[in-house]
Amino acid sequence: MTAAPTIAEEILDLKRERNAIIMAHHYQDAEIQELADFTGDSLELARAARDADGDVIAFCGVWFMAETAKVLNPSRIVIVPDEKASCSLVEGCPPEPIREYRRRNPDHVIVSYVNTSVEVKAESDILCTSSNAVKIVNSIQADKTVLFLPDRNLGNYVKRQTGRENMKIWQGSCIVHNTFPVRRLLESKALHPEAIVVAHPECPEAVLAHADFIGSTSAIIKYCAQNPGRDFIVMTESGVGFSLERDAPSSRFYYVANENCNCSECPFMRMNTLEKLRDSLLTLQPRVEIAPDLMARALLPLERMLAVR
Ligand code: 13P
Ligand code: SF4
Repeated sequence: MTAAPTIAEEILDLKRERNAIIMAHHYQDAEIQELADFTGDSLELARAARDADGDVIAFCGVWFMAETAKVLNPSRIVIVPDEKASCSLVEGCPPEPIREYRRRNPDHVIVSYVNTSVEVKAESDILCTSSNAVKIVNSIQADKTVLFLPDRNLGNYVKRQTGRENMKIWQGSCIVHNTFPVRRLLESKALHPEAIVVAHPECPEAVLAHADFIGSTSAIIKYCAQNPGRDFIVMTESGVGFSLERDAPSSRFYYVANENCNCSECPFMRMNTLEKLRDSLLTLQPRVEIAPDLMARALLPLERMLAVR
């Protein structure tokens, strides 16, 4: 008698049948990342989605990331294992006040972090991710007022890095990074005095002040891999552990828990599971559907971002 296929085997079979590619953010569970054709941070995933092959993109990340993949691939089917995989930054920045801001301030430049809904992207002049935000803001004419949204910590970090005065910042935050307490970071530093502190710019300024390196998820992974044998205190989502342990096997990594869950996990990212991925490949649901005119309006700021090197 042959053994029943594992869920991973079922996923690989369905992937072939559907001519699908699986894309995964670094914050996904290891078992999902192991099956992915491409793993990356949000900028890398946007670039990979632009260059994607296949009829179906199974996007293992949060909904706004899959919307980006759809805007870049209007003719392909884009599915997400769990449609409730949202993001506190998206939820804290509804489109109506942004439309109103645009009506009142037609000469301001709206720079939106990709962690926004497709409706907010459509109201934006240019998008950015955590890895190119400084470069994007520096690409904007110095005399123009910028509205940066929705992450206040990333916005303040960009403001400090660029020295730009005429920059307003939306007051949203990430429920994971914004709640990493400095107190716990200092405790961890006391326990591991030799460790290098690496942090995502969504962390509050008080945390970033103690960081030896600040960067996007992939930048953090690359930095750790370039410093083999060193230990690291990691101020970002613990899903990065999968790539960190693979790329820097001689290092030790210490994660600082946030106040909400006593862990370093994004509850939205962790809604995706192998079972849900299998079911979504089977039913091609939940599927990202966006009205064509909305996609066209969101594509413009996205293409402007991808053009900035
Ligand atoms: P990255 O740009 O590092 O992928 O950030 C995405 C994100 O959601 C961070 O919380
Ligand atoms: Fe959003 Fe934060 Fe989760 Fe990233 S980690 S998806 S910013 S809630």
